[in-house]
Amino acid sequence: MTRLTRADLDALPAYVAGRTVPGAIKLASNEVPYGPLPGVVEAVAASIAGAHRYPDPAATALRAALSDRLGIDADRIATGCGSVALTEHLFRVTCLPGDEAIYAWRSFEAYPIIAATTAATSVRILNTAEHAHDLPAMAAAVTDKTRLVIVCNPNNPTGTACRKADLDAFLDAVPPTVVVALDEAYREFVTDPDVPDGLVEYGDRPNVVVLRTLSKAWGLAGLRVGYLIGSPEVAAAVRKVVTPFSTSATAQAAALAALHASDEMQRRVDLITAERERVVNAVRKVYPDVPDTQSNFFWLPLGDATTDFAQKCEESGVIVRAFAGDGVRVTIGSHGENDAFLDCI
Ligand SMILES: Cc1ncc(COP(=O)(O)O)c(C=O)c1O
Repeated sequence: MTRLTRADLDALPAYVAGRTVPGAIKLASNEVPYGPLPGVVEAVAASIAGAHRYPDPAATALRAALSDRLGIDADRIATGCGSVALTEHLFRVTCLPGDEAIYAWRSFEAYPIIAATTAATSVRILNTAEHAHDLPAMAAAVTDKTRLVIVCNPNNPTGTACRKADLDAFLDAVPPTVVVALDEAYREFVTDPDVPDGLVEYGDRPNVVVLRTLSKAWGLAGLRVGYLIGSPEVAAAVRKVVTPFSTSATAQAAALAALHASDEMQRRVDLITAERERVVNAVRKVYPDVPDTQSNFFWLPLGDATTDFAQKCEESGVIVRAFAGDGVRVTIGSHGENDAFLDCI
């Protein structure tokens, strides 16, 4: 049979999304459980009247709102169809086939897929025994072929976060010719003051790029809006390669409405982080090895017991995210949902 697609992709694991099972509690995709923020549903409904028109490809109003909120020029911002798409665009503007991209492992499962599809060579650096990034090893892995290093902070799926002193040393060690992407999809859930805001602390470094999303704390996972902040040059390059019109008009309208509801976003995040403390403390009574988490999920390093554990949870009506042979990631849900999970264990 004639082969029509790349043979090397056969070895690539497909992205596994958290499963939705009718009637079950879903703690598998790091979503926030409280529904869209106030004003979002109305903004989405209003935007539909213009559905026959293309959206603003430059997302001008959204970038202006982000620029106001973040205190940076709009020319440093690119928006996209979720921050996962922006990660892909960032690979495309930094890596040619054969160039190296370094990231921690285990980390966000989209990285190896994106690296492979841009033909970059993945260099994975194993996490420490505490399930955190090994930043000195990541810095030491940089070669003259390295074009991109991704730091997932906090890390999906382990929840662990890099502290300021370690990131300072890491960024000082990486040559300024290598782009460092700080993937801060879960930044809003960070409560440890020692975990730096990448934009505030490192935004003035031209080789640092910060990736954020409105999918998590801002409750827009289903509408797909992420943004990237970099130097004007890097942001412009990303805007050039973004799939045209990939931030839909509805997504832009929803994002603008969500950004107007930032107090309510913070109130919900506070509920989640309080629940996180309650749940992790309770889980540690049974599984003491749960690493500290700065995100809206936590990691159960169950090794070979992973699949069985996830199956048992599902039989009790709770869907968690299993990484076979490694561990289970559990999203913090509402109080009642979390109680259901605690009942399971
Ligand atoms: C670490 C990390 N980065 C990026 C993303 C992508 O988020 P989205 O594409 O929904 O903006 C996710 C989603 O799970 C994530 O966990």
